Amino acid sequence: MNATKSEVAGSPIEFDPFSQDFFDGAYDTYRRLRDEAPVYYSAKWDFWALTRYDDVAPGTKDHETFSSAKGATLDMVHSHDDAIPVPKVIISMDPPEHEKMRKLVSKVFTPRAIAALEDMVREKIYECLDGLDPSGFDIVADFSALFPNEVITTMLGVPKEDRNQIRLWLDLLLERHTGEIAVPKTGYEASMNTGLYYYDLVQQRRARREDDMISRLIDTEIERDGVVEKLTDVDITGFATMLGGAGAETVTKLVGNAMVAFADFPGQWHKLREDRSKIPAAVEELLRYEAPSQYQVRTATRDVTYYATTIPEGSAVLLVTGSATRDERMFENPDILDIDRERRMGFNLAFGYGIHSCLGAALARMESRIALDALLDLIPEYEVDRDGLQRVAMSNVCGWSNVPVRKV
Ligand code: HEM
Repeated sequence: MNATKSEVAGSPIEFDPFSQDFFDGAYDTYRRLRDEAPVYYSAKWDFWALTRYDDVAPGTKDHETFSSAKGATLDMVHSHDDAIPVPKVIISMDPPEHEKMRKLVSKVFTPRAIAALEDMVREKIYECLDGLDPSGFDIVADFSALFPNEVITTMLGVPKEDRNQIRLWLDLLLERHTGEIAVPKTGYEASMNTGLYYYDLVQQRRARREDDMISRLIDTEIERDGVVEKLTDVDITGFATMLGGAGAETVTKLVGNAMVAFADFPGQWHKLREDRSKIPAAVEELLRYEAPSQYQVRTATRDVTYYATTIPEGSAVLLVTGSATRDERMFENPDILDIDRERRMGFNLAFGYGIHSCLGAALARMESRIALDALLDLIPEYEVDRDGLQRVAMSNVCGWSNVPVRKV
């Protein structure tokens, strides 16, 4: 291994995903990594990181070299052997297990099924927005932290009175303390509570089906080699628990990040206000500019060499999407938000790539599009109270917990 690659004359680069630098948006660090240490080793946390688009994109697609099976977060990969057994979820599976699971859950995520949710999604977004006072509110705490959870828990079939509790547990589950890799005790408890809650809900739906996703997941089946395969209660519990993190937190981050980015580039907000048909392109650009899921964690299944440095088999590898989508080798003026940007690639790396690419991308795009449209009406001109801006400290995701704004 060649850790000295990570150091340049007199000035070592440190990329620490559990540091304030990461929580604040590590774009300067990423630029140095891409330029000076495109294959980086962290002795502190024992992981490797790839940061250039042309390495991250093929790496994300290459599930044979970069396995997901040990987990999607660094603490899971490192503690795997003695970890508390938790239900295996789709994001932490390799083929053939992944293929079977993906086929089963895809049945409830068809483009048609998602398109049919538009009225419900709109209703949830406007329910959250209607109570807001445009002269002063918090984009995240009062809006974007609320509606994605409402959407997902409604889809799953969680009764109204329990939906907020699910969200509070999720926040605890993702929270990290600066300088600590481990999930805090409160996070483990929240994870257990969420699992127990969904397990109980699955039992209720087994006894009596409703018009919701848990009921549909119970009835979903596929046939492989003449064998009919179904999801177990534990599979469904794991999937439902995972959707909170995969589907709610990410949209929360996207919308919060968007309103800070537009405040930094107000001309782009004005453009959008003048021409709402640009909203879908703006969503893609926002995902590029500040990827809500900053890195995907993998385990190398073989020795793999980049720039004459070998990542040994068994190593934890971070495929840093948040850097790849700012790579100047790929995007002109990457640090500029430009909703009219011409893209060179047909896919958006912020939703992953290959077999694990985001199952909820269509839903996420829909939610973001409706939310931005609603915000353009509510606060066509706005200011961010920068003193009140607060970043989250979480694993994998990057974004804000507080974005206070007011209409001007
Ligand atoms: C802006 C919002 C979102 C972003 C940026 C995002 C990003 C991602 C990324 C990067 C992955 C790939 C992870 C990997 O390769 O290890 C992924 C996977 C996934 N996402 Fe999303 N996501 C978003 C919203 C959603 C929503 C709304 C849902 C569902 C309601 C969802 C469900 C999933 C699932 C189930 C997977 C795992 C797929 C698999 O392993 O086959 N996501 N997402």
